[in-house]
Amino acid sequence: MTSLLYLDSSANRSGDSVSRELTALFAETWRAVRGPAGDRCRYRDLAADPVPPLDTAYCTLGRRLERNGLPPLADIDAWIRSPAEEREWALTRSLVTELLAADTVVIGAPMYNFSVSALLKAWIDRVGFPGVFTDPDTGESLLRTTKVVVITTRGGSYGPGTPREAWDFQTPYLRAYFGKQGVAEENIHFVGAELTMAAVVPHLAHQQSLAAKSLASAREEVTALAAAGRPAIRTTV
Ligand SMILES: Cc1cc2nc3c(=O)[nH]c(=O)nc-3n(C[C@H](O)[C@H](O)[C@H](O)COP(=O)(O)O)c2cc1C
Repeated sequence: MTSLLYLDSSANRSGDSVSRELTALFAETWRAVRGPAGDRCRYRDLAADPVPPLDTAYCTLGRRLERNGLPPLADIDAWIRSPAEEREWALTRSLVTELLAADTVVIGAPMYNFSVSALLKAWIDRVGFPGVFTDPDTGESLLRTTKVVVITTRGGSYGPGTPREAWDFQTPYLRAYFGKQGVAEENIHFVGAELTMAAVVPHLAHQQSLAAKSLASAREEVTALAAAGRPAIRTTV
């Protein structure tokens, strides 16, 4: 049985979000190629159901665990000292458990002010709780073999050689974050659709054909990534 965690973080739920279109394509393809083996798909819409921002109790509990050598996930309950910490940990644990249960994670990540949306950042801060991805037996990351597919969208263009190449704090940030959590480099995939505002903003209108090409190639890459690693089809002889 394989398991997919599917996250959307565009604030735009009107039906014209490009990242939402592409994450949905990923999830549909992923399920279709796996048949009954792919029935474990958990969807989380971070705009419809936002992750609450961290509070003092999250920090206090995290610091206590840091001081005490980062106990494993299963032992964290024993370190809780207040109802506020209990609430913070319950919120955090459910998201961490969901991530740990997934073989594949697909994340729709629009660029907002050169980085990710606050909705995604709230999820990132919460699941990045101290020590929860460390295997207590081996010290290795429990996310090493998790496949992470990040689908980025941007209104403008930030590719190599473009004037705003150095302003992209979205993909390098997400690569660093998942790398630090222990996801193997070869398991982190980025697919991007650029110039999504070309059809909206008059001064980008001349870029519409580039935008269409970027979206078409993103759709192809998303489909290929979702189909990759599907269970082999059994043939009888
Ligand atoms: C709050 C906000 C900030 C944005 N900041 C940027 C930006 O810094 N650079 C950029 O190229 N596009 C920016 N955009 C445009 C979005 O990246 C673009 O519309 C993208 O397609 C949004 O993803 P979605 O289509 O999945 O909703 C911004 C949009 C919003 C709503």
